[in-house]
Amino acid sequence: ITINWEAEADLVVVGGGVAGLTAARTASLRGLRVLTLSKGGPTDTSTQYAQGGIAVVAPHEDSVQSHVHDTVVAGAGLCDDEAVRSIVEGGRDAVAALTDLGAVFDLARDGEVSRTREGGHSTRRIIHAGGDATGAEVQRALNAAGLPVIFGAAVVEVITGANGVQGVVALSDQGFGLVHAPAVLLATGGLGQLYACSTNPAGATADGIALALRAGATVADLEFVQFHPTVLFARGGLGRRPLISEAVRGEGAALVDTQGNSVTAGVHPRGDLAPRDVVSRAIAARMQQLGTDHVYLDARAIDGFSQRFPTITASCLAAAIDPRTGLIPVAPAAHYQCGGVVTDTHGRTTVPGLYAAGEVARTGLHGANRLASNSLLEGLVVGERVGAAATERLGESARITDTGPLTLPRVPRTPLQQLMTEHASVVRDGDGLRAGVLRLLRLLSESGTAASSRTAIEQTDARRSADRGRGTDDIAAPWNGQPNTSGAQQDSRADGRLQPAASVPGTLAGALTDSAATPTVSDVE
Ligand code: SIN
Repeated sequence: ITINWEAEADLVVVGGGVAGLTAARTASLRGLRVLTLSKGGPTDTSTQYAQGGIAVVAPHEDSVQSHVHDTVVAGAGLCDDEAVRSIVEGGRDAVAALTDLGAVFDLARDGEVSRTREGGHSTRRIIHAGGDATGAEVQRALNAAGLPVIFGAAVVEVITGANGVQGVVALSDQGFGLVHAPAVLLATGGLGQLYACSTNPAGATADGIALALRAGATVADLEFVQFHPTVLFARGGLGRRPLISEAVRGEGAALVDTQGNSVTAGVHPRGDLAPRDVVSRAIAARMQQLGTDHVYLDARAIDGFSQRFPTITASCLAAAIDPRTGLIPVAPAAHYQCGGVVTDTHGRTTVPGLYAAGEVARTGLHGANRLASNSLLEGLVVGERVGAAATERLGESARITDTGPLTLPRVPRTPLQQLMTEHASVVRDGDGLRAGVLRLLRLLSESGTAASSRTAIEQTDARRSADRGRGTDDIAAPWNGQPNTSGAQQDSRADGRLQPAASVPGTLAGALTDSAATPTVSDVE
């Protein structure tokens, strides 16, 4: 490739959502030269679409311990308790910093910040803005900080040398460019667009995972994709679909099937406000039982629905549904990547100078299933910490000397989404996943992308045999032949981590990123 432009920075931030811009702002305040690169425009982020709010310990009838407990229970016991406590404890200060920046949260009649409830929470602790437009307000406040961002610039490779990160290769409307920098933050969001139907924006194509793996970083818990239970259903409606926030159930709406019966009665003591993996599975099971493709949310009893939920009201009305008088058709859809690039609670990955924060990171906060509204919380808290931590790289001289071979193979988007939806959705099992890997390999070969020399299936089987010999099942639940779901699986891995694909072939991630000719997920079209 030809390099058309070059720049230098102390910190390159990849992604312009809550985690990226919070880190960029903190690092700038500490005197670092920060350059943010964002694949889309100023509001093409997952942050923009977050509805419910930010989970933060309430001043009354709440405690850090209670928020930690709810988080760990929702995470099916697979959270890192220390990380959960650390991030939950950081919530109040992080929200105060955002408020100082100009973010405005909704107030209750008594003048206190209004708090709602969502699935898995034992109390009303979720603050919100614009009724159901919390993410949009967070994004607005951060965008208004006026940080330097190049929009429409996709990072295609993180370059590392003996002392860790040296910078990135990016593709913008000026062509390929190099940004020399000793520190790079991946804040690229999630992977929802690998599925046919998702709440995520078009850019959520797992770029950060691919970049991290190719840079040699460790990733973990990628099997824990969260499916939001209530996404506005339309027959044939694909791509980004409107979310119907859990806060709607928090304010009293009920989930009913096509025959008018409760979907969650007898499933969980918290009923419709059970953790979202439980609710998604209950919906999937009821749809299968009745042979339907959706259920309903009955929100007719909520007073002042359109004032409390203006975004949702607009989405429903656009689909000719009036939530004040009719039932809202809903079905689960891909929503959140609970695992990701392994980091500490300051966003440090296993590669010196490479940081990750927000949805792309696996701090240990979410375990197998993220608690509602813990995502903006994590982006704010860890984003700020990365902005401070990146100062530790200031003495490193960073100059990209060799980009290595850069390849940009392409994977057709629609077939990839179809196979992920058919084989790796709300309920999945070993046989289905193996069939999915075979389809993926065929797809790669048809699109001119060489798979690794041994097939992923062979590698997986070889690895599982070796793991059995060691008394572990390192590939974990999705591959053990048992029905597996979006959150309740028991994971028997020793440390829950996958090594980079190059050193541990045979994972699904390996099939996507192994070898020089591997498709970059950022190039999924
Ligand atoms: C919602 O409002 O239901 C989504 C919030 C979240 O994903 O945490």
